[in-house]
Amino acid sequence: MNIPFLNPGAQFHTLRSEILAAVEGVLAKGHYILGPNVAAFEQEAATYCGARFGIGVNSGSDALTLALKALGVGPGDEVITTPFTYIAPAESIHQLGAKIVFADIHPRRFTVDPVAVAHRITPRTKALLPVHLFGQAAPLRELERFGLPIVEDCAQAIGVTYEGRPIAGQGALGCLSFYPTKNLGACGDGGMVITQDEALAKTLRMLRVHGIQQRYHHDLHGYNSRLDELQAAILRVKLPHLNAGNARRIELAARYTAGLAGLPVEFPEIQPGSSHIYHVYALLTDRRDALQAHLAAHGVPTLIYYPLPLHLQKCYADQGWRAGDYPVAEAVSARILPLPMYPELTDAQADYVIAQVRSFFGA
Ligand SMILES: Cc1ncc(COP(=O)(O)O)c(C=O)c1O
Repeated sequence: MNIPFLNPGAQFHTLRSEILAAVEGVLAKGHYILGPNVAAFEQEAATYCGARFGIGVNSGSDALTLALKALGVGPGDEVITTPFTYIAPAESIHQLGAKIVFADIHPRRFTVDPVAVAHRITPRTKALLPVHLFGQAAPLRELERFGLPIVEDCAQAIGVTYEGRPIAGQGALGCLSFYPTKNLGACGDGGMVITQDEALAKTLRMLRVHGIQQRYHHDLHGYNSRLDELQAAILRVKLPHLNAGNARRIELAARYTAGLAGLPVEFPEIQPGSSHIYHVYALLTDRRDALQAHLAAHGVPTLIYYPLPLHLQKCYADQGWRAGDYPVAEAVSARILPLPMYPELTDAQADYVIAQVRSFFGA
């Protein structure tokens, strides 16, 4: 059996006629930039997140940069984030000329550790940028106690609830990604900033179109970062299916956990107060590389998220960070192994993955 690690095209086949009709509707109408589908999808996504405003931008990465910019982050400021994630949050801080400050993570939940955050706060700390990693929330309540604006990176977590409420509308700003492999994935790039705050929403609407409120009058230093009308039309078809997809991921995660019980692996821990929608299902094992090779040899290719923590990336060589600075992130990077996870994965495929992991351990 050969099992793709990710399968972003699979959902198209289920929703083919609806998606093609939506795309044709946009093409025929000719309103290609910030048209009615973007406006409608912004409202639908904001409502889904229990928030008032959604501002569609061209990627999750831009959502983070524009969110920090809207909060006034710039040179001389510090923003605290996690070293164990995709690079986008750190990149957004750096692009604005602010200082990236890392705080280490929880060893089993993989989200930022509030105790580590407390040690990193200085008078220059302008905001916190926690990541709701792998499909569960960062410890928002503990982080709120620091009294700093929070930008939630929700790229991997649309549909997660924390203390019974959706994430993204809980901090000052929440950032979504619609990258094709995300739980709500477009057929290209896309992102959104979610907020309850009308003034921030207004600033963000200006920032995404070169700082304008009125055409050819530029009040702010802005960007060209708009959610594409075609992607918005496709995402409107997909959003009503998000909960079912997340429910299927939860089912598959339970199947993996039951099937792998008793093996010498560690299972991730769920953050108290958070649901988990398993954007990623990962194991921890000291024999990670050998297990990965065994799975690949048996038709189960896997990808490591994340093989190198952000403080050790070459692009940050000038920042002075060293191996050993964030030991928990480094240990997790060396031991983590994500397994195939997407709603279209069948029970038979999941059982095959389980059987291959079991055979590796001689079980
Ligand atoms: C945690 C996290 N933040 C931000 C991003 C950036 O999103 P995008 O790829 O849409 O720019 C991603 C993923 O791609 C991500 O996983």
